[in-house]
Amino acid sequence: MKKFLAVASAVVALTAFAEPPKAKPADAKPADAKAADAKKFAITGDAAKGQVKYKELCVACHGELGKGDGAAAAALTPKPANFADAAHAATVTDEYIYNMIKEGGAANGKSPLMASWKGAMNEAQMMDVAAFVRSLSKSAAAAPVAPAPAADKKPAKK
Ligand code: HEC
Repeated sequence: MKKFLAVASAVVALTAFAEPPKAKPADAKPADAKAADAKKFAITGDAAKGQVKYKELCVACHGELGKGDGAAAAALTPKPANFADAAHAATVTDEYIYNMIKEGGAANGKSPLMASWKGAMNEAQMMDVAAFVRSLSKSAAAAPVAPAPAADKKPAKK
């Protein structure tokens, strides 16, 4: 009887682990839907300001240049995406980047290892960090220096 119980509880434990992972929300949006999303929401932060917060909060995992090679990255599965990879950057919307920072991975169908940062930063600070993340793919070869203030990049004020 004891043996039976042990086997039974082992089976229960195993089936608990064997539960299929939760279905991910559709990553596979059609390109035109992504383009529409991108139009609705744009990152308007200041990358230079964002770099300061990034160094403080994000470097450990994402690495200095956003390549996903921070000191803690070796322990991460999945590895953080390479922010410096322009091809990857082109596949993610501003809204997605901002939401990943604000709400974290779990809320976006991604790894919970990517935390939600809305408790550590206000909206403007999260926009600034998002702008810095974006800037990394635009200057992949160079060190992430603050881009010159580009007045023409700012959305036109009404
Ligand atoms: C504890 C490690 C860790 C820290 C610290 C961390 N991240 Fe992440 N981040 C991750 C991981 C892991 C992923 C990948 C999640 C996945 O793909 O499931 C990720 C994903 C992301 C993504 C989505 C990238 C993409 O293209 O899919 C963004 C944007 C991001 N992180 C920004 C930040 C910012 C900004 C900070 C600092 C405020 C930060 N992260 C801090 C681990 C971390």
